Amino acid sequence: MRVIVVKDPQTMGKRAADLIQEVMESKPHFVLGLATGSTPMPLYKELIRRHKDEKLDFSTVITFNLDEYVGLKPTHDQSYRYFMNKHLFDHININKKCTHVPCGIGDDLEAECLMYEEMIEDVGGVDYQVLGIGSNGHIGFNEPGTSLASRTHVTQLTESTIKDNSRMFAKVQDVPTQAVTMGIGTVLDAERVVLVANGANKTKAIKAALEGPITAMCPASALQLHPGVTYVITEDCAKGLTIAVER
Ligand code: F6R
Repeated sequence: MRVIVVKDPQTMGKRAADLIQEVMESKPHFVLGLATGSTPMPLYKELIRRHKDEKLDFSTVITFNLDEYVGLKPTHDQSYRYFMNKHLFDHININKKCTHVPCGIGDDLEAECLMYEEMIEDVGGVDYQVLGIGSNGHIGFNEPGTSLASRTHVTQLTESTIKDNSRMFAKVQDVPTQAVTMGIGTVLDAERVVLVANGANKTKAIKAALEGPITAMCPASALQLHPGVTYVITEDCAKGLTIAVER
C-alpha cells in the first residue's frame, strides 16, 4: 500500500492526476472509475487543466462512476450524472456515450445493477478507480456492514451519510435514502485504485482503513487486500498514522 501525504487539496489533485495520466497514456482504451463528492474536485480541475493546457486526450477514454442516488433523474442538480457533466465531462474531449453512471430510476434497479457489472466486464474491467472515503469509512455507497464481496447493488444510506451529504441539499429531508453503488468486490476488481482524502473529519476513517483490521465495519479496509492501491491524503488526514508514508 502506497500512502502519499501532501500539504493541501490542490497538491492532492495533482498527485492523483499524475498517477492516472501515466497509465492513461499507456493504454489505448483506458477505463477510468470515478467518484463524486467534494474531495475529487481538485483532481477533476487538474485533469481539465491538463486537457486545456497540455492537450491531455480523453477521446478514447471510457468511464464508470461508482454510484448514483435512487430516485434522482440525471437532470436533477444533485444527481451524480449532473455532477460529473458539470465538473468534468463538459470540459474535456470525452465521448459522453462512453461515460457511465449507474441508473437510479426505473422499475427494475436490480436488472440495472447486473447490466452495470456486465458493461464493466465487457470493456475488460476498470484500469484506474478513483475513490473518496466517507467519514464512516464507506467507499462508493458501501456503508459499514456491506459484504466485502458485494457487487453493484441498491443500498440504504446510513444516518451519518445522509447527514454528511445534506450540505448539498436544501434540507436533510431532501437527501435520498437509497443509492445504487458498485460493490466492494467490484471496486477490488479494478487494476489500480487511488483513494483521495482531505480534512480532519476523515482522519479516523483513514486510520481505520489503513491500520485497522480488514472488516466490513470499515469498508475501505478491504483495500488492504488489493496490491495496487495508492492513498493520496492531506496532512490533517494523516495525523496519528504509524505506517510508512511518502511525502
Ligand atoms: C461518491 C462516493 C462517496 C464519497 C464519500 C466522500 O461517489 O463514492 O464514497 O467519495 O462520501 O465524499 P466527500 O468527498 O464529499 O467527502
